[in-house]
Parts: sequence; C-alpha cells; structure tokens
Amino acid sequence: MKADFILYANQLLTCSPGGSIRRGQAMSDVGLIEGGAVAVADGKVVAVGTASEIDLQYSSEIKLSYGVIMPSLVDAHTHPVFAGSRVDEYIMKANGATYMEILENGGGILSTVRATRRTGTDELLELALSRLDRMLSHGTSLIEAKSGYGLSVDEELRHLRLLKRLKELHPMEIISTFLGAHAVPEEYKGKREDYVSLVCDEMLPRIASENLADFVDVFCEEGAFSLDETARIIEAAKKFGLPSRIHAEQFNSLGGALMSAKMGAFSCDHLLMLSLSDIEELARLDTVCIFLPGSEFFLNIRDYGPARSAIDKGVPVAIATDFNAGSCLSESLPVAMSIAVLQMQFLPEEAIISATVNAAASLGRADVAGSIEKGRSADFLCIDCDDYRQWLYHFGVNMTAAVFKKGTVVYEASKVRRFIASDN
Ligand code: NIG
Ligand code: FE
Repeated sequence: MKADFILYANQLLTCSPGGSIRRGQAMSDVGLIEGGAVAVADGKVVAVGTASEIDLQYSSEIKLSYGVIMPSLVDAHTHPVFAGSRVDEYIMKANGATYMEILENGGGILSTVRATRRTGTDELLELALSRLDRMLSHGTSLIEAKSGYGLSVDEELRHLRLLKRLKELHPMEIISTFLGAHAVPEEYKGKREDYVSLVCDEMLPRIASENLADFVDVFCEEGAFSLDETARIIEAAKKFGLPSRIHAEQFNSLGGALMSAKMGAFSCDHLLMLSLSDIEELARLDTVCIFLPGSEFFLNIRDYGPARSAIDKGVPVAIATDFNAGSCLSESLPVAMSIAVLQMQFLPEEAIISATVNAAASLGRADVAGSIEKGRSADFLCIDCDDYRQWLYHFGVNMTAAVFKKGTVVYEASKVRRFIASDN
C-alpha cells in the first residue's frame, strides 16, 4: 500500500497505549521499538512497527530517517498571553527577595497585569505567537494556555479571544483555561469577595456563552485565593460545564490539591508542599498531579516537591513548564523534564510519559494525543540523538531535529554553517 511518507528511527518511542492515565510502574513504559518506523497518510498514522514490518506493508517516495522519534510533547500548564518583562524581579530575586514578597509589594502577577492591559491586541498576539514558535521548536505541539493577566471582564475576554485567534494562526493545538482568579486586581483591594463574585457571576457566564474556555483555574494560595473561594469558583464553573485545574500547594500546604481533586479537577499543579497524607488520598483519584520543576528552579526554591513519592504511591503524575514572565521564563518542556530527572529522581521514561500520555490525560485528550498509534494524528517529535536517554541528559540544549503536526513538518532545526577547513 502507498503511504504519503514513512519515517524511520534508530529508536521509536510510541508511548502507547495512550488513552488513559498511567500510574506507578506503567509510567516507565515508553513503548520502545529499536529500528522502528511509522507510515503516514492523510495526516494520520497508518502503521507503526519495526522498519522491516512497515516496509512489507507500505511504500512511499518520501522516506526520512531520524535518531529518535516520539509523540510531540504536551505542555499542560502555560501562561503565554502577557506583555512586559519582569527582569527587575529576576534581579531582586538574585538579591534575596521571595516571589510572595514581590507580589505583596504590587509586583509579580499585578505588574504583568498592568503591562498587559496597556498593550494592544496585535502586539499581544505577536508576543504570544513567538512564544508558541519557541515551544514548538522544543518539541511541544499541544499546550494548555491560561488567561489571568487581565483580571477584568473585558480584559479576560480579550485574552481568551486572543487564544482563540492563536489557534487559527498557529500549528500549536491550544486548550484554553480561564484563570480570572489569578490575583485580586488592584481596583478590588479590600473587596476580595466582590472580585470572586465578579469571576463567578459575570466573567464565567460571558466566557461560557462565547465558548472561550475549556477549563477554569484558581491560584489557591495564601495571599491569592482561599480554599473556600477556590471551592466557590470550581462550583460556579461546573454549572457552565467547565472542569477545573488548580494552582495548589505551591508555597503552603492548604489542601487545595486534594479538595479540588475530590471536586473532580482534571489536574492540580505546582504541589511543592503536597503532604504525604494527601498523596495517599490522591493515589485513589484520577486527578493528574502536575509538577512544574522549571518554576522551582527559576524561583531558586531548591526543593522540587514530593513527585518521587507521588509516583511510587500510584499518583498519576505529569510535568509542565508553567511558562510565564515571573516564575518560569522558559518555553522548553525538555528543560523541565531534565530537571525532573536530574533533581527529582524521575527516570527518563517517567519524564517522557509525564510530558506525553499523562499530560494529555490531564487535558482530557489522552484519546487523541500523547502516543503514536494507528489512526491518530501524525504528531511527532524527532530528536537529534540515537538513544533517547541521551536527550534529557543533554541539559538545556535544543535537540529537536523536526516536529510534525498532522503529518506536516512544522519545525525543522536550522543548520550551522561551518567553515570548510582549507589546506593553506
Ligand atoms: O504558576 N502561581 C501563580 N501563577 C503563576 C505565576 C504567574 C506570575 O508570576 O506571573 C505560576 O507560577
Ligand atoms: Fe502557573
């Protein structure tokens, strides 16, 4: 039979079976096929197997070879819609200030809110597009993207509409999350209850009626939103059919992760301060626990949380970037995965399942993304090394050779032009 093209790999990581969350031992099975191949027709995978198996079934004029081929990555927690820079905070942190001190003094999230509100939609769109380009170049082709730097009805709607526009303009697949409860905006200082009402009674109905979000998020933390406020927003969103994913246990152990999980959250994220007793309960639920090691690294926290225990106890775990201006200015999911291996005792295989199958499951997309299987969209990350263990080991360096989305090359590494050695 004819295929549009066939890709060959020294190592093909199928990450199959996809379809549902992986726990414990199952997180180390990346579906390795040595000398593998994948045939593609009409943007879809038509066959996966060893090169000799595929060559028996399919032929094509276009045949390409790579070192490692795996499913393109899924980044399940990003904040790509913002303007301005927080380079001053980066210097303040170098001088010893903490993230929450900066937030309490009107910096942090609120400074990005001020800069973003001042920025026109075209400029904001260009900024976001170049971030998506960088994500793609590091191997990510499906992201979750949050609003949360608007914090007024009009601004939150503007940012969510912008995400909708990005979906039309960019090959990146985007799942949108409404994060109106990211911080209490300056104009609601001292009137936090009114702001929570604005989120529940005005923002959510407008967003739902325009179909602008797939999820709702709340920053559940001391100095941000309390457990009660978080529960109120989760409940309000449920009435509009929006499931939740929650920022929880980032700096304090409030119990927001377990509470939101019991309320049906698809994910709880950050989790640096997650307690062992909560881990045991979370192991009995299907909520994906997303660790964001780039954020701990960026904030110089020097502790990456109990991810190892969570995996060992059977909690479904994922890794994401948390890309944003203040707590992780890096679009590279492989960097976060390398930190997980180097600092958090993830096996490379567990880091890979955390950024493919489990990340997709946290977005309710495990049936379509995160693994290479017959009938699925041809979304591949091709890596410039012959053994997948060499990939994350090569820390902080982009090893992506190419990214395919729906059977089309959407990123290809550019080549360095070396001088030709001459004899004279
Ligand atoms: O996930 N923790 C809250 N929100 C973001 C940071 C946003 C910012 O600092 O601008 C986070 O780390
Ligand atoms: Fe975040």
